[in-house]
Amino acid sequence: MGVDTELIDDQTYFVVECDEQIAGCGGWSRRATLYGGSHSAGRDSAMLDPSTDPARVRAMYTHPAFTRRGVGRLILSLCESAAAAEGFSRLELMSTLSGRRLYEAAGFEAIEEVEDSSGGAPVPLIRMGKAITSVALF
Ligand SMILES: CC(C)(COP(=O)(O)OP(=O)(O)OC[C@H]1O[C@@H](n2cnc3c(N)ncnc32)[C@H](O)[C@@H]1OP(=O)(O)O)[C@@H](O)C(=O)NCCC(=O)NCCS
Repeated sequence: MGVDTELIDDQTYFVVECDEQIAGCGGWSRRATLYGGSHSAGRDSAMLDPSTDPARVRAMYTHPAFTRRGVGRLILSLCESAAAAEGFSRLELMSTLSGRRLYEAAGFEAIEEVEDSSGGAPVPLIRMGKAITSVALF
């Protein structure tokens, strides 16, 4: 998909480093785009309303050499705290099948299963959500 540079411009994207290597990255957004890169179809840069809309969790990737060491969990926790600090009470994301277990472990629940055929072959995805409070609890 490529990078969504809006996340970087908005300063809502985290990078975790270990011994000067990038171990993982991921972030959140106060904008409507749910997933995809800067050039993906269906983007929507509109600002979300924290009183009614869920903030987004976006673009979570852990380097294969650093998986199952808590990098994804750490980034989700940072996203949750940052979104809650801006008044959001809910998070939503679009998960790949390989991301589902991480999000379930962090308290997200499946909302709907969809298929994205924009790249040619259909890719199964799961929209997931979680209520959040002003303090990250996991
Ligand atoms: C999904 C991904 C980001 C997980 O990152 P991670 O840093 O390995 O996750 P964590 O170590 O923080 O895992 C936290 C918990 O999530 C669950 N979990 C994470 N990956 C899992 C897996 N492959 N199988 C089962 N459970 C998993 C576990 O409960 C884990 O806790 P445990 O290791 O103590 O059992 C990583 O596997 C990845 O980059 N996958 C490819 C890209 C991708 O699909 N990203 C999601 C896009 S929506």
